[in-house]
Amino acid sequence: MARVFVSAPLPGDAIERLRKAHDVEVGVGLGDGDAWVTLLTDRVDAARLTIAPRLRLVANVAVGVDNLDLAACRAAGVVVTNTPGVLTEATADLAFGLLLAAARRIAEADRLVRALHWKGWNPALLVGKRVHGATLGIVGLGRIGQAVARRARGFGMPIVYAQRERLAPELERALGARFAGLDELLETSDFVSLHCPLTPDTRGLLSSARMARMKEGSVLVNTARGPVVDEAALALALERGPLAAAGLDVFENEPDVLPALLARPNVVLSPHIASAESQTREAMARMAVDNVLAVLGGAAPLSPVSSVAPTSRSAQ
Ligand code: DGY
Repeated sequence: MARVFVSAPLPGDAIERLRKAHDVEVGVGLGDGDAWVTLLTDRVDAARLTIAPRLRLVANVAVGVDNLDLAACRAAGVVVTNTPGVLTEATADLAFGLLLAAARRIAEADRLVRALHWKGWNPALLVGKRVHGATLGIVGLGRIGQAVARRARGFGMPIVYAQRERLAPELERALGARFAGLDELLETSDFVSLHCPLTPDTRGLLSSARMARMKEGSVLVNTARGPVVDEAALALALERGPLAAAGLDVFENEPDVLPALLARPNVVLSPHIASAESQTREAMARMAVDNVLAVLGGAAPLSPVSSVAPTSRSAQ
């Protein structure tokens, strides 16, 4: 029996399935074992890896892997897996929800009604921004970005996208998406939704200079990773323009949120819950555990982010 450390309890029967095959410790930290099941709040770097010299796998219960030092894992001969695909639709749903909420001021409206400040119908009350027919800029048209694009098509929104590689023309046509440089996207989009991973290249991508290029009255949605956006610059852009509103599910220093953002009425905030929908969370847990069962059983990982050479300790 191999020893598996699972960072925290997981939804569904994933841990029970793991216990049938292995010796499993849950919620006691990541210790000296053969596999770790990690959350995006667990940092794994070279120093941490030294506590588990026989570790063969880190199975992250997330699609993003910016919490893991992939080079250190590779150097230590540790396979890394993530949970792509299963959270695509749930994340796109929340991104579109934040877009609608920020544009149509739904959170502000809710606060006003609860505070008993509603004095009756008024043509100037909580007037927001038109969504249908507005241009949506998607930064990172991967799985989740494409799922957002499909939703936006239902709202008659022209789509522009920016990323390193252009998509195949038939996929662009199917999504109704036009390839553009990031600057052009920022200058022409009414809504900008971020769907890129956090990497050294995307950290601080939406800097103060880039935000200054955004269209007057535009709306930013971030369900990717907080550090892609300079939060202090965002708070200023929301106060002085050009941004009219923002919908944020992720933050630079979670769970802390910049006080200047908390103070702004034109920001809708959610606590990193884009994949928080029961079937999705169970599927993420299942996928992470399936990776552990595969790798510890001597098979190939099902969703490897990075594999290691066959001579290493992962390939037994
Ligand atoms: C991920 O998977 O990377 C999300 O941020 C959490 O579901």
